[in-house]
Amino acid sequence: MIDVVTGGAGFIGSSLARALLKAGRRVRVVDDFSTGRRENLPEGVELVEGDVARVAGEALRGAGVVYHLAAIPSVPRSVERPLETHHATAEGTLAVLDAACRNGVRRVVYASSSSVYGDTPRLPKSEAMPPRPLSPYAAAKLAGELYAADTSRCASSTSMARGRIPIRRTRR
Ligand SMILES: NC(=O)c1ccc[n+]([C@@H]2O[C@H](COP(=O)([O-])OP(=O)(O)OC[C@H]3O[C@@H](n4cnc5c(N)ncnc54)[C@H](O)[C@@H]3O)[C@@H](O)[C@H]2O)c1
Repeated sequence: MIDVVTGGAGFIGSSLARALLKAGRRVRVVDDFSTGRRENLPEGVELVEGDVARVAGEALRGAGVVYHLAAIPSVPRSVERPLETHHATAEGTLAVLDAACRNGVRRVVYASSSSVYGDTPRLPKSEAMPPRPLSPYAAAKLAGELYAADTSRCASSTSMARGRIPIRRTRR
Protein backbone atom coordinates (compact mmCIF):
# COMPACT_ATOMS: atom_id res chain seq x y z
CA MET A 1 0.00 0.00 0.00
CA ILE A 2 1.12 3.50 -0.78
CA ASP A 3 0.15 6.82 0.81
CA VAL A 4 -1.01 9.45 -1.67
CA VAL A 5 -0.57 13.17 -1.02
CA THR A 6 -2.46 15.39 -3.44
CA GLY A 7 -0.96 18.85 -3.63
CA GLY A 8 2.28 17.29 -2.40
CA ALA A 9 4.45 19.93 -4.07
CA GLY A 10 2.79 22.67 -2.01
CA PHE A 11 3.57 24.25 1.32
CA ILE A 12 1.79 21.76 3.59
CA GLY A 13 1.79 18.76 1.24
CA SER A 14 5.56 18.69 0.76
CA SER A 15 6.15 18.75 4.54
CA LEU A 16 3.62 15.98 4.97
CA ALA A 17 5.22 13.89 2.20
CA ARG A 18 8.62 14.35 3.87
CA ALA A 19 7.25 13.28 7.25
CA LEU A 20 5.57 10.20 5.78
CA LEU A 21 8.78 9.16 4.03
CA LYS A 22 10.66 9.63 7.29
CA ALA A 23 8.13 7.35 8.97
CA GLY A 24 9.01 4.66 6.42
CA ARG A 25 5.93 5.02 4.22
CA ARG A 26 5.88 4.81 0.42
CA VAL A 27 4.56 8.10 -0.91
CA ARG A 28 3.00 9.18 -4.19
CA VAL A 29 2.43 12.85 -4.88
CA VAL A 30 -0.23 14.18 -7.26
CA ASP A 31 0.35 17.76 -8.35
CA ASP A 32 -0.08 20.00 -11.36
CA PHE A 33 2.49 22.55 -10.10
CA SER A 34 0.02 25.40 -10.46
CA THR A 35 1.14 26.88 -7.13
CA GLY A 36 3.48 24.13 -5.91
CA ARG A 37 7.12 23.79 -6.82
CA ARG A 38 9.07 20.87 -8.18
CA GLU A 39 11.96 21.62 -5.84
CA ASN A 40 9.62 21.14 -2.85
CA LEU A 41 9.28 17.43 -3.66
CA PRO A 42 11.30 15.31 -1.27
CA GLU A 43 13.59 12.70 -2.79
CA GLY A 44 11.98 9.28 -2.99
CA VAL A 45 8.36 10.20 -3.76
CA GLU A 46 6.55 8.86 -6.79
CA LEU A 47 4.97 11.59 -8.91
CA VAL A 48 1.74 11.66 -10.88
CA GLU A 49 1.77 15.02 -12.61
CA GLY A 50 -1.52 16.56 -13.67
CA ASP A 51 -4.84 18.01 -12.65
CA VAL A 52 -6.16 15.89 -9.77
CA ALA A 53 -9.70 16.16 -11.15
CA ARG A 54 -8.49 14.26 -14.23
CA VAL A 55 -5.79 11.90 -12.91
CA ALA A 56 -7.30 10.81 -9.58
CA GLY A 57 -8.30 7.35 -10.87
CA GLU A 58 -4.75 6.51 -11.93
CA ALA A 59 -3.13 8.26 -8.97
CA LEU A 60 -5.09 6.40 -6.29
CA ARG A 61 -4.42 2.91 -7.60
CA GLY A 62 -3.02 0.79 -4.75
CA ALA A 63 -3.45 3.59 -2.21
CA GLY A 64 -4.14 2.84 1.45
CA VAL A 65 -4.47 6.39 2.75
CA VAL A 66 -5.03 9.57 0.74
CA TYR A 67 -4.20 13.00 2.14
CA HIS A 68 -6.12 15.39 -0.07
CA LEU A 69 -4.53 18.85 -0.03
CA ALA A 70 -4.65 19.88 -3.69
CA ALA A 71 -6.58 23.14 -4.03
CA ILE A 72 -6.11 26.74 -5.07
CA PRO A 73 -5.97 28.19 -1.57
CA SER A 74 -6.52 31.87 -2.19
CA VAL A 75 -9.63 33.93 -1.43
CA PRO A 76 -8.70 36.86 -3.74
CA ARG A 77 -7.85 34.52 -6.59
CA SER A 78 -11.16 32.70 -6.13
CA VAL A 79 -13.00 36.00 -6.43
CA GLU A 80 -11.10 36.84 -9.63
CA ARG A 81 -11.37 33.32 -11.11
CA PRO A 82 -14.19 31.41 -9.40
CA LEU A 83 -14.51 28.68 -12.03
CA GLU A 84 -10.83 27.81 -11.78
CA THR A 85 -11.09 27.61 -7.98
CA HIS A 86 -14.23 25.51 -8.16
CA HIS A 87 -12.62 23.07 -10.59
CA ALA A 88 -9.39 22.54 -8.66
CA THR A 89 -10.93 22.63 -5.21
CA ALA A 90 -14.46 21.20 -5.36
CA GLU A 91 -14.36 19.06 -8.52
CA GLY A 92 -10.86 17.89 -7.59
CA THR A 93 -12.16 16.74 -4.20
CA LEU A 94 -15.13 14.93 -5.73
CA ALA A 95 -12.81 13.17 -8.19
CA VAL A 96 -10.52 12.07 -5.34
CA LEU A 97 -13.46 10.76 -3.30
CA ASP A 98 -14.92 8.94 -6.27
CA ALA A 99 -11.55 7.36 -7.10
CA ALA A 100 -11.10 6.43 -3.42
CA CYS A 101 -14.42 4.56 -3.47
CA ARG A 102 -13.58 2.80 -6.71
CA ASN A 103 -10.11 1.79 -5.50
CA GLY A 104 -11.17 0.61 -2.02
CA VAL A 105 -9.02 3.22 -0.27
CA ARG A 106 -9.06 2.70 3.50
CA ARG A 107 -8.95 6.34 4.59
CA VAL A 108 -9.20 9.82 3.09
CA VAL A 109 -7.99 12.85 5.01
CA TYR A 110 -9.39 16.13 3.71
CA ALA A 111 -7.95 19.55 4.54
CA SER A 112 -10.82 22.00 4.70
CA SER A 113 -10.41 25.61 5.77
CA SER A 114 -11.50 27.91 8.57
CA SER A 115 -12.72 30.22 5.78
CA VAL A 116 -15.95 28.17 5.82
CA TYR A 117 -16.86 30.02 9.06
CA GLY A 118 -17.00 33.36 7.21
CA ASP A 119 -16.16 36.55 9.06
CA THR A 120 -17.44 35.64 12.52
CA PRO A 121 -15.15 37.10 15.19
CA ARG A 122 -15.98 34.27 17.59
CA LEU A 123 -12.99 32.42 18.99
CA PRO A 124 -12.21 29.67 19.48
CA LYS A 125 -13.95 28.28 16.42
CA SER A 126 -15.93 25.08 16.92
CA GLU A 127 -17.15 22.59 14.37
CA ALA A 128 -20.62 23.05 15.86
CA MET A 129 -20.67 26.60 14.48
CA PRO A 130 -22.74 26.98 11.31
CA PRO A 131 -20.70 27.41 8.12
CA ARG A 132 -21.07 30.77 6.41
CA PRO A 133 -18.78 30.80 3.37
CA LEU A 134 -18.22 34.28 1.94
CA SER A 135 -16.00 33.56 -1.06
CA PRO A 136 -15.84 31.05 -3.91
CA TYR A 137 -12.82 29.50 -2.15
CA ALA A 138 -14.75 28.98 1.11
CA ALA A 139 -17.76 27.63 -0.80
CA ALA A 140 -15.55 25.15 -2.68
CA LYS A 141 -13.90 23.95 0.55
CA LEU A 142 -17.31 23.49 2.16
CA ALA A 143 -18.56 21.60 -0.90
CA GLY A 144 -15.59 19.27 -0.44
CA GLU A 145 -16.62 18.66 3.18
CA LEU A 146 -20.16 17.79 2.13
CA TYR A 147 -18.93 15.43 -0.59
CA ALA A 148 -16.55 13.82 1.91
CA ALA A 149 -19.32 13.32 4.47
CA ASP A 150 -21.45 11.69 1.78
CA THR A 151 -18.62 9.47 0.52
CA SER A 152 -17.79 8.22 4.00
CA ARG A 153 -20.49 5.59 3.50
CA CYS A 154 -18.21 3.78 1.02
CA ALA A 155 -14.72 4.62 2.39
CA SER A 156 -14.01 3.00 5.76
CA SER A 157 -13.21 6.41 7.18
CA THR A 158 -12.97 10.06 6.25
CA SER A 159 -11.29 12.72 8.37
CA MET A 160 -11.58 16.46 7.88
CA ALA A 161 -9.82 19.43 9.38
CA ARG A 162 -10.80 23.09 9.14
CA GLY A 163 -7.60 25.01 9.73
CA ARG A 164 -6.50 24.22 13.25
CA ILE A 165 -9.83 22.70 14.23
CA PRO A 166 -9.84 18.96 13.61
CA ILE A 167 -13.13 17.40 12.65
CA ARG A 168 -13.23 13.67 12.53
CA ARG A 169 -15.95 11.54 11.04
CA THR A 170 -15.41 7.84 11.06
CA ARG A 171 -17.86 5.41 9.55
CA ARG A 172 -17.46 1.69 9.07
N1 LIG B 1 -1.89 27.12 4.40
C1 LIG B 1 -2.91 27.33 5.24
O1 LIG B 1 -2.84 28.16 6.17
C2 LIG B 1 -4.20 26.54 5.08
C3 LIG B 1 -5.24 26.76 5.99
C4 LIG B 1 -6.41 26.03 5.87
C5 LIG B 1 -6.53 25.07 4.87
N2 LIG B 1 -5.51 24.88 3.99
C6 LIG B 1 -5.68 23.87 2.96
O2 LIG B 1 -4.52 23.04 2.94
C7 LIG B 1 -4.24 22.63 1.62
C8 LIG B 1 -2.80 22.95 1.23
O3 LIG B 1 -2.57 24.34 1.36
P1 LIG B 1 -1.14 24.98 1.10
O4 LIG B 1 -1.07 26.20 1.93
O5 LIG B 1 -0.07 23.94 1.23
O6 LIG B 1 -1.29 25.45 -0.42
P2 LIG B 1 -0.27 25.33 -1.66
O7 LIG B 1 -0.78 26.25 -2.72
O8 LIG B 1 1.13 25.52 -1.20
O9 LIG B 1 -0.47 23.81 -2.08
C9 LIG B 1 -1.52 23.38 -2.92
C10 LIG B 1 -0.94 22.40 -3.90
O10 LIG B 1 -1.99 21.88 -4.72
C11 LIG B 1 -1.54 21.87 -6.08
N3 LIG B 1 -2.72 21.95 -6.94
C12 LIG B 1 -3.59 22.98 -7.08
N4 LIG B 1 -4.56 22.66 -7.95
C13 LIG B 1 -4.31 21.39 -8.36
C14 LIG B 1 -4.96 20.50 -9.26
N5 LIG B 1 -6.09 20.85 -9.92
N6 LIG B 1 -4.41 19.29 -9.45
C15 LIG B 1 -3.28 18.91 -8.80
N7 LIG B 1 -2.62 19.71 -7.93
C16 LIG B 1 -3.14 20.93 -7.71
C17 LIG B 1 -0.63 23.09 -6.21
O11 LIG B 1 0.24 23.03 -7.30
C18 LIG B 1 0.08 23.03 -4.85
O12 LIG B 1 1.25 22.24 -4.91
C19 LIG B 1 -5.28 23.30 0.72
O13 LIG B 1 -6.30 22.37 0.46
C20 LIG B 1 -5.79 24.46 1.56
O14 LIG B 1 -7.13 24.76 1.22
C21 LIG B 1 -4.35 25.59 4.08
